[in-house]
Amino acid sequence: MRLSLNTGPANATEIFSGPTVFQDLNDWLEKGCSRQDPAFILADSNTRAFCLPHLLSLIPSLQNAVVLEMPPGESVKSIDSTIQLWAELAGKGASRRSLLINLGGGVITDLGGFVASTFKRGIPFIHIPTTLLGMVDAAIGGKTGINLGNIKNQVGTFYLPEAIFIYPAFLGTLSEYELHSGFAEIIKIALVADSELWQKLLLLSWQDLLHRRTDQGLEDLIYNSVKIKCRIVEQDFKEMNLREILNFGHTIGHAFESLSFKKNSTPISHGHAIALGMICEGYLSGRKTGFEAGDRDVLTRMILSRFKYFPIQKKDADLMMDTMVHDKKRRESESRFTLLKEPGNAIPGIVCNPDEIVESLEYYKTLGKE
Ligand code: GLY
Repeated sequence: MRLSLNTGPANATEIFSGPTVFQDLNDWLEKGCSRQDPAFILADSNTRAFCLPHLLSLIPSLQNAVVLEMPPGESVKSIDSTIQLWAELAGKGASRRSLLINLGGGVITDLGGFVASTFKRGIPFIHIPTTLLGMVDAAIGGKTGINLGNIKNQVGTFYLPEAIFIYPAFLGTLSEYELHSGFAEIIKIALVADSELWQKLLLLSWQDLLHRRTDQGLEDLIYNSVKIKCRIVEQDFKEMNLREILNFGHTIGHAFESLSFKKNSTPISHGHAIALGMICEGYLSGRKTGFEAGDRDVLTRMILSRFKYFPIQKKDADLMMDTMVHDKKRRESESRFTLLKEPGNAIPGIVCNPDEIVESLEYYKTLGKE
């Protein structure tokens, strides 16, 4: 399957997906074979061990590529790793005609994209996402970034990869925890932009998907989600307005995520946090943008049947409010949210005051008593 994301005359990404995607990659690399300079592959230690051997066995022309390895985890999305990678690229002869291949989940594609977009004022790069979150969201749309202290994605660029190759069989090696992050983004994209996909998700058995994860069913879900995201990004590449709808669930979701980091030795996954954030922001949608109570209840039940309830106390809600004060989506002193009018129809930039946000956390707390 093939898609194209076009944000301007000289700004496009070709997206290939499916079991024969490495044949597409081979053909794509051959077309660019005038590129004589060394190619680089950025991987973390997991994707180096589990995905790189497969890639190299199918694409012999990459045998000579220089492999850059990072430890796994969010902490490598830092300026220190960026400097290290710039230095490795420079030291190993990278030029503006070198290709950087990012093989990994969202951390690797965000970091690798940022390094490529800034090294020598920008070198070409491609993504081979290896997680469901990467396939349906992080790798798609040209956002690159690193974290600044505790604040995620504070520094970054909008810079499109030349191509993206989605190989669903990589999902066979993922834990259920990692798959959840991708599932949450698929739920989000349906809620903000496609009511038909939302209806389909309501009927899907996720246990089946988890057990037959390399099936056509999951591949179609990935393809549909990517197509919808491309349609949004094409209209608003630099996130001036419409693209903000992709942040549904994320403001309160990030507050859940950072609370769980503070409280637990095994924090909840990003996707789990975003899913819980969607419950609260679904509540705010009822208060502010006419989202019907019946739809809100369906959303809440759908999420709680797939993601575990994470209990919060009064002091936790206070900590979450503190986190939201630092949210990068705030303009001036206001908190702005993307809220739903109905499933498949979202409105960005709705201002909610602190009392309304606290009320949404109160609503969330009542769900723990059910
Ligand atoms: N992950 C949200 C976006 O790409 O805009």
